[in-house]
Amino acid sequence: MCGIIGITGRKFVTDRLIDGLKRLEYRGYDSSGIAVLTDGSLQRERAEGKIKNLEAKLNAANIDGQSGIAHTRWATHGVPNETNAHPHFSGRVGVVHNGIIENFLELRKELSKTREFRTETDTEVVAHLVDAALEQGDNPKDAFRKSLKQLTGAYAFGVIIDGVEDQIFCARAGSPLAIGIGEGEMYIGSDAMALTQLTNNLIYLEEGDWAILTPDSYEIFDRQDKPVTREATIISGGPAMAEKGNYRHFMLKEIYEQPETVGRTLANYIDEFRLTANIPPELDFSEFDRIVIIACGTACYAAMVAKYWFEQLGGVAVDVDIASEFRYRKPVISKNSLFIAVSQSGETADTLAALRYAKEHGTKTAALVNVMTSTMAREADIALPINAGPEIGVASTKAFTSQLTALASLALSAAVTRRALSRDAEIRLARALIETPRLIKESLLLDGQIERLAFELSSSKQAFYLGRGSQVPIAYEGALKLKEISYIHAEGYAAGELKHGPIALIEDGTPVIVLAPYDNLFEKTISNLQEVASRGAKIILITDETGAKSAGDLASYVITMPDSDSFVAPIIMTLAVQLLAYHTAVHLGTDVDQPRNLAKSVTVE
Ligand code: G6P
Repeated sequence: MCGIIGITGRKFVTDRLIDGLKRLEYRGYDSSGIAVLTDGSLQRERAEGKIKNLEAKLNAANIDGQSGIAHTRWATHGVPNETNAHPHFSGRVGVVHNGIIENFLELRKELSKTREFRTETDTEVVAHLVDAALEQGDNPKDAFRKSLKQLTGAYAFGVIIDGVEDQIFCARAGSPLAIGIGEGEMYIGSDAMALTQLTNNLIYLEEGDWAILTPDSYEIFDRQDKPVTREATIISGGPAMAEKGNYRHFMLKEIYEQPETVGRTLANYIDEFRLTANIPPELDFSEFDRIVIIACGTACYAAMVAKYWFEQLGGVAVDVDIASEFRYRKPVISKNSLFIAVSQSGETADTLAALRYAKEHGTKTAALVNVMTSTMAREADIALPINAGPEIGVASTKAFTSQLTALASLALSAAVTRRALSRDAEIRLARALIETPRLIKESLLLDGQIERLAFELSSSKQAFYLGRGSQVPIAYEGALKLKEISYIHAEGYAAGELKHGPIALIEDGTPVIVLAPYDNLFEKTISNLQEVASRGAKIILITDETGAKSAGDLASYVITMPDSDSFVAPIIMTLAVQLLAYHTAVHLGTDVDQPRNLAKSVTVE
């Protein structure tokens, strides 16, 4: 989280820095800022809130130069106001930073003896460190290099220095950073997305690397300050930034893209002619006695669904954990385990740390990601794409259904490899997967009905989502979607668990959204539905055609999704909870694509 971009060249940079920042806005939108070197001296403009506020100020201020750095912030240390907005200045030095300097209090205490601090951020210490070293007579390279040695924590930096007109200093440890190579220009960016309009020739810095860029050259050094060569990557994808088209929000567009995105995922993982899973040969499920799947947020709910699939189809034990807990628990993982990191961005700090932990312990690792240029894709033994295309809405939608689709295919492959599935069953499940794009398309036809329902939901203060079996993670995901974009307090529960406490919260009219496709757990879920209905809950039942016929009039509202094989029902049911959350948020007038306090890519712990 937080996005940084920098350019050093011979043409003016402000407009291009702003364009790059807009591509990075998904990483945070609490404030933004830009600093440029104009005739060798530092100038900056910063604004609280979204990048459009910065643009408005720049229109009036008209600052520009041939080297510059820019930043969009997701606040960690210090409230999201203009003072705390990056770039931070000290004397001759301007800094943008993504990450957290963990020893900043200690450094600040020491530096405060001689220097005045103006912000509440951890980043400001870096500007002071470099400036203090310059004051003591170090040249810019040594000042930057020595300052890095004093820092602990995670960082990606871009630094410019007054009087050093055509150089950008940058470093990476824990937070991602790429160098872009142009013609007579060099760039830095938090990710490929920031730089695609400038160049397709990128170098991803490795942990501990730092570098100096001039318009015509770059020098990279490793943690020990030894000059190193890092391979350049030509990225495909061109300069196009995802557009909303005729949709009101990116989230709605991404919901509507799902027949195609799931289709693309399937094209990669299912052989439609042989009706079998098509998995990279280096992923041989007969080698493993356990699978460990680690993720954060929505990706973790996809992992939880996968546990049902792997265990039920293939009889293979699966542990699922949230990355921030896994990495600090000293988890026991054997060499016979397969570790799978699931991450849309491939950059989430905790998931990446968990992946590295697994690698250090000799476990085979796979990364199931949407961004194939990401750190996880590069560091895992096997990179598995979901091919959902850029996801811009902060609330994940199409990435989730593609993660589910890929994981379902992997589970199918595991079951076949481990001889746990007959050929007939394999064909049935492969066909069920192939049917999902069509069923998703049919589900989207319910949009109007769900929108009307959402109007009712939007006046509620709280909501519950219930499910059983592989619908439990969909209940979690439904509740997460609702709270993150509509700010209504929502909880997802295993339907059988509600009576052990949370049922006390049910009052007359409390909305309870029950996910119950007609499967072997349907009757049990309906019993739980009755328990809450008899306590006054307003029931919204999300089921399928067969389930709707069986449920009679137990629910206040029924959303009837198309019938599907229970294997893929979690994917189909997801459409209903996505649309319900989306329309509720729209009724409430929230910022659907950039909800408060959130960021799409969480690169701090
Ligand atoms: C953030 C996003 C979520 C996402 C989670 C994990 O919290 O807002 O939508 O599910 O990070 O992100 P990842 O990129 O690892 O899937």
